[in-house]
Amino acid sequence: MKIILATQKPFSPYATDRVKEIAKAEHELTVFENYKEQSELVQAVHDADAIIVRSDLVTAEVINNAPKLKIAVRAGAGYDNIDLEACTARNIVVMNTPGQNSNAVAELAVGLMIYMVRNSFTPGVGSELKNKKLGIHAYGNVGKLIATLGKGFGMEVYGFDPFVNSEVFARDGLTAVKSAQELYSLCDIVSINMPALPATVKSVNKSLLEQLKNNAILVNTARREVIDEEDLLNIMQRSRIKYATDVKPLCHEKLTDFGNRYFSTPKKMGAETEEANINAAIAAINQIVDYFKTGNQTYRVN
Ligand code: 3PG
Repeated sequence: MKIILATQKPFSPYATDRVKEIAKAEHELTVFENYKEQSELVQAVHDADAIIVRSDLVTAEVINNAPKLKIAVRAGAGYDNIDLEACTARNIVVMNTPGQNSNAVAELAVGLMIYMVRNSFTPGVGSELKNKKLGIHAYGNVGKLIATLGKGFGMEVYGFDPFVNSEVFARDGLTAVKSAQELYSLCDIVSINMPALPATVKSVNKSLLEQLKNNAILVNTARREVIDEEDLLNIMQRSRIKYATDVKPLCHEKLTDFGNRYFSTPKKMGAETEEANINAAIAAINQIVDYFKTGNQTYRVN
């Protein structure tokens, strides 16, 4: 089968070599990385039986131009970049590789927290994570790891996830709260960890943001779309909250007016570690090899 590793943001050379090695016994692998235009991706997939992508946009146009495509694997967690409907209509299997890059994202989230409590490392008096109340908004793989790291820093950790019951939080040493509103009003730092889905897009809006304490810190390593940017700008004007993110907002320029109260990484880099690259890339190629060999669809999302 012809497999294309198509990623605008290349994996580390070692991770890419491992993918080639695993594929080569039974398949032909092409590495297509660092492309600049979406039209290049559309062209690159024309003879692909399988593709591995990261945040690359697998649109209906990409799918339509890949008549042989049977499986698309998102080497990562969020698959909002893939047109699931277009894939399903063609009976193309879509998978993700859940958990493989979570630790890298969780560490980055805590790094952003430290950066914010230390006033972006500008000279002067900052504060510590210890004894602060940390709110985990959505308790998936990343949320769980951030909670563990937060406890390691001596934080009091609270959790809210509409799909997770209080026993699970209690078992993991978190205090469950009854609503997102309660989480936002109680905590000094809130970490957003949910995927971008129709139900979550713009769900972090006025109703939650206005609950935040005056000097609370909001950390978003999830998706740009889950926060209502207009409401965020409003609350930034009306209070002293800080916003740190790994998913650059569309209103980035306006937010830079808030100085040290706002920080965005230059490019999404939560999963940009050697370890996460290796884990996610190897999981993706193994899932494809296994799918062609045995039909295993364990991580199918459509
Ligand atoms: C994910 O959904 O796995 C993360 O957002 C990482 O995305 P990336 O592979 O584009 O860095």
